Amino acid sequence: MLNRPSPITALLDARVDGHALPAGLYTRADVFEADLDVLFRRHWIYIGLDCDVPEPGDATVIDIGRTSLILLRDDDGALRLVHNVCRHRGSRLLDHGPAILSRIVCPYHQWTYALDGTLAHAPHMGTGFDRSCNNLKPVHVRSIGGLVFACLSETPPDDIDRLAAVMEERLAPYGLKDARIAHQVDVIEEGNWKLTLENNRECYHCSANHPELCVSFVEIDFGYDPDTLSAEDREMARAHEALYAERTAAWEAEGFPSAPVEQLAGHATNFRTQRLIIAGAGESQTPDATAACSKLLGTMTRKDLGDIHLWAHNGWSHFMGDHAVTSMVIPLAPDRTLVRTKWLVHKDAVEGVDYDRDTLTSVWTATTEQDSALVARSQRGVEDPAYIPGPYSPFTERQLDNFATWYIERMRAHGY
Ligand code: FES
Ligand code: FE
Repeated sequence: MLNRPSPITALLDARVDGHALPAGLYTRADVFEADLDVLFRRHWIYIGLDCDVPEPGDATVIDIGRTSLILLRDDDGALRLVHNVCRHRGSRLLDHGPAILSRIVCPYHQWTYALDGTLAHAPHMGTGFDRSCNNLKPVHVRSIGGLVFACLSETPPDDIDRLAAVMEERLAPYGLKDARIAHQVDVIEEGNWKLTLENNRECYHCSANHPELCVSFVEIDFGYDPDTLSAEDREMARAHEALYAERTAAWEAEGFPSAPVEQLAGHATNFRTQRLIIAGAGESQTPDATAACSKLLGTMTRKDLGDIHLWAHNGWSHFMGDHAVTSMVIPLAPDRTLVRTKWLVHKDAVEGVDYDRDTLTSVWTATTEQDSALVARSQRGVEDPAYIPGPYSPFTERQLDNFATWYIERMRAHGY
């Protein structure tokens, strides 16, 4: 009897190098469940920020599939991450969203947990009851330069250490642990989470779709085909590359690591970072590329240090002198994805005095809405029986090819 591969394995096998993924990997319910299990339970995922919970007692609930997590700051100021499941009969403890707590009290029978997750009080359980065996279940959590990563597995991949080593140093001057969330927007994209990430990892679509972003963003930073450019554009592209070499060397000489660092195919934890040149006025991703906030982040004293971009597993971020913008991606269904975007400013920056909220947020608000529409169009296309996975541009979509390869490797590494 022939040993047939499972439907998911068959789809992984069907992927042609250099091409987009087969339709089923974007559309099927069983693939969605497998994705959640492999990519969102057994890998480090980006779940939030230190400054989501700045003070002892601050808590916020993050739902990923059927898993619900409580991110909180305990009485000693330590960051904690626990499952949002009562150790008595399993009731959800907190509802979705932020909260301020002195204790976590289960609404059902009032078991009460301290902010470090230990069970402090459980009425009517008898003298032989050992509270210490019934603490809230902790989850692996790491703050990296103010970004919070979690891993739901008992044995998290250890190659997050490289992400930590690279980003702690790069983000230190931005003081993100002490920043403040000035604005937050949730967008639900009508598409598979991998389409959301693919869309973010190329700028092939930028000039046709993102007029606001293109004021400050240089689309050829993510690749171009020199043979399809006019002689004049080719010369501009070469001049831009020369400027990169010069600017990167100068930034690094001044103590600001800037060169690209990338870890994707061949690794469990995927990330890419580079200090990018901001176009035009060169300061920030705002409508005119000047800084939106007069109080700079952390210990920054300069607005000319470009944009540290970071792709990390299920998110993307930009760190500039005056503010940062960071998005995390949570799959909701095979064809629905939450994109949660936060804009960060110095904690003492005052709206209306140091910054105008619309100036701060308008570029990425527009860009996120435009991307959401593009992802929905992609999803409708991959669901059409006529869809055939097309070739990625070797110049502008190299990172998508890497991402698809990484995805298939990770699924295979976990038994598919
Ligand atoms: Fe939480 Fe009973 S289920 S106290
Ligand atoms: Fe886009």
